[in-house]
Amino acid sequence: MICITMKKEVLVLALSDKENRPVPEHIAIIMDGNGRWAKNRGLPRTAGHKAGGETFRRIANYCRTIGVKYLTVYAFSTENWKRSEEEISGIMGLLERYLTEALRDMEKNAVTFRFFGDLSRLSPKLRKLCEDAQTRSSEFHEVQVNFCLNYGGRDEIIRAAKAFAADVAAGKRTADSLTETDFECYLDSAGVPDPELVIRPSGEMRTSNFLPWQSAYSEFVFMNVLWPDFKPADLDKAIEEYYRRNRRFGGA
Ligand code: IPE
Ligand code: IPE
Ligand code: MG
Repeated sequence: MICITMKKEVLVLALSDKENRPVPEHIAIIMDGNGRWAKNRGLPRTAGHKAGGETFRRIANYCRTIGVKYLTVYAFSTENWKRSEEEISGIMGLLERYLTEALRDMEKNAVTFRFFGDLSRLSPKLRKLCEDAQTRSSEFHEVQVNFCLNYGGRDEIIRAAKAFAADVAAGKRTADSLTETDFECYLDSAGVPDPELVIRPSGEMRTSNFLPWQSAYSEFVFMNVLWPDFKPADLDKAIEEYYRRNRRFGGA
């Protein structure tokens, strides 16, 4: 059943279960399984990444429809540079195309973009697209997509530690007074609440360096479906599983 609820100033559609529990505010997804999807069809891996991109569009739209406020997706990891040049350039080409279209349709889609990861290793063209998408979409407030590109959780923590150390050296901070909340301001995810739910399709049961800090208390749902086959109904299933979990945060 679908119901209309007021959330902040925005009218959003929210999934409603028997107990009227709201959808998670922040869902994070490891978009995995593109290569196997392509292999199963005798297609090149890039065809899997293209199909995965289409799934991302559908799922991002669906998240907006059901009232998810933040969607964080793992698109390319710091470890994915180990892949063949052909596959990497295929992925980068698809990202360029996607962002060019997103910039073109920005007003219509009203999605806010943020990028997590070290963008300095991307091509100047892709980096510029990321920066433009982030700047031009900052006025929208409906749904925020955090795109993890050349992202690694350990790399993110190291970059944050370096930035903090630089502030200490500049006399802006003292090492002793550092708290978890202060440190979060140095992470790529500064200002974004932690995800309540992390989903990994593809059957793998590991996190592969995705959001280690932010997911410390997230609920994980591992699913046996390859990302290009992932449907809105699979997201519903993951949310239903999330509703069944008992989150204690260390309490009794
Ligand atoms: C995820 O799909 C996309 C990226 C890592 C860029 P994979 O390409 O890892 O697909 P599998 O895991 O080999 O099936
Ligand atoms: C994680 O998938 C990274 C992305 C989905 C972008 P991988 O396919 O790279 O992870 P492993 O190698 O199976 O751990
Ligand atoms: Mg994979």
